[in-house]
Amino acid sequence: MVTTQGGRAPILSDLMARPSFQATPGTRDLFAPDTDRWRVLTGIFADEASRAGFGQVVTPMFEDIGVFTRLGEASDVVSKELYDFEDKGGRRLALRPELTASVCRAFAQNRQLLPWKSWYAGAAFRQEKSQRGRFRQFDQVGAEVIGSHDPDLDVELIALAVRFYEQLGLVVGAEGPTGLTLLINSLGDKADRPAYLSALTDYFNASLDQLSEQSQQTLAVNPLRVLDSKRPQDAELVAAAPVLADFISAEATAAFERVQQGLDALGITYTVDPRLVRGLDYYTRTTFEFAANSLESAQNAVGGGGRYDGLVADLGGPDEPGVGFALGIDRTLIACDEAGVFATPEVNVDVWVVCTTGGLEAVGIADELRQAGYSVDRSFDNRSMKAQMKAANRSGAAIAVIVGDGEAAAGTVSVRPMRAPSGDTTGGPAEAGQDAGTKQREISRPDLVGTIKELLQP
Ligand code: HAM
Repeated sequence: MVTTQGGRAPILSDLMARPSFQATPGTRDLFAPDTDRWRVLTGIFADEASRAGFGQVVTPMFEDIGVFTRLGEASDVVSKELYDFEDKGGRRLALRPELTASVCRAFAQNRQLLPWKSWYAGAAFRQEKSQRGRFRQFDQVGAEVIGSHDPDLDVELIALAVRFYEQLGLVVGAEGPTGLTLLINSLGDKADRPAYLSALTDYFNASLDQLSEQSQQTLAVNPLRVLDSKRPQDAELVAAAPVLADFISAEATAAFERVQQGLDALGITYTVDPRLVRGLDYYTRTTFEFAANSLESAQNAVGGGGRYDGLVADLGGPDEPGVGFALGIDRTLIACDEAGVFATPEVNVDVWVVCTTGGLEAVGIADELRQAGYSVDRSFDNRSMKAQMKAANRSGAAIAVIVGDGEAAAGTVSVRPMRAPSGDTTGGPAEAGQDAGTKQREISRPDLVGTIKELLQP
């Protein structure tokens, strides 16, 4: 906050003298150990996806705006929330609001062997009204498969997400805060859509004055999205609206049955929700969404996906079908917190180097032990022995390696266990000057790596 004398408005020089920047609304900073948890989560997803034959794809964070307008001009994501801009070369660009369109564009540009299975992790940007669980920059992990109509792939993708959530401690079908609900639906093929849309439009038009004003506007641009309305005023009409299932082709119906049989075979609990339309316009056939029991309904979707059997062609590629999903990392972690699962990992260093000689001993010891595979940290700025021991304790390090003038002259180091070896937390960190079961020992400097190895053995 800039303060000025005499209460006058801040002038430029005040602002230059004391800059006070905040992360812009809807964005945030993440620090360790939360970032450790983030990395573990992405690692679990990467392992699950690799085991299922998916390779990682990395696409740019911004693209020609046309890549994203294909998501549906009538969807909020495109019409209201896109961060679009013109670059210095006069190109109309946009920050990606999701990654599926970019993955399809990348495929159209660089053909891959089919079916092409890819996974990704990265940020997406939507200018939404920010609130808990709804950010303007958020992260997703996701997976996409291009090049197969087989509904068994829809099952494989849903199972991939389900098994991933299970590793975090969130269980599809479970009661209580650790539970997730899996909703599935079929939107049929594009050709099935016109008859349904006209039935839906006629239905809503017949009771137009009962619909909320926003839904009346939505009806004019995309009648399907009216089904997505969460406004209480629309609830009754939406509940009694015609359902797409009555309009979809025999082929699409059979595919949806196969998806359900696959989920049944895997013991994955789901609910068929005929009103699940999702917020992007590219979906055909199977759509699905995971909702967390522990989150409020406006932000309870922790992930979702479905088929998009025309998107690749729309982006200039061959007419290959696609299916995939994305899971919101930020929201998934909030759901984990609410459920009391997937706790932030405790990351302690193995060794803290305490050195009071003013020489280069700490530099050499830290480097040697890190090269030997141990995590090592140290104090800087020639602080006192007491201050350095305090820092060693605070760090949670298992061992302090201490070098004073005496040790340096004798070619030795002192090794002090600070807590029980990793996994055993019963002892807790020892106070500075105390031992944690084993006494401090002075050892010859060349024996350091061997001694650390011995002490850190579980
Ligand atoms: P989506 O449903 O728009 O689908 O987003 C997927 C997930 O991203 C949501 O369930 C939610 O967890 C998270 N998410 C979305 N918006 C926000 C936000 N503003 N703040 C925090 N988290 C958010 C897609 O993005 C599709 N690309 C999924 C897909 C892949 N369909 C087929 N393939």
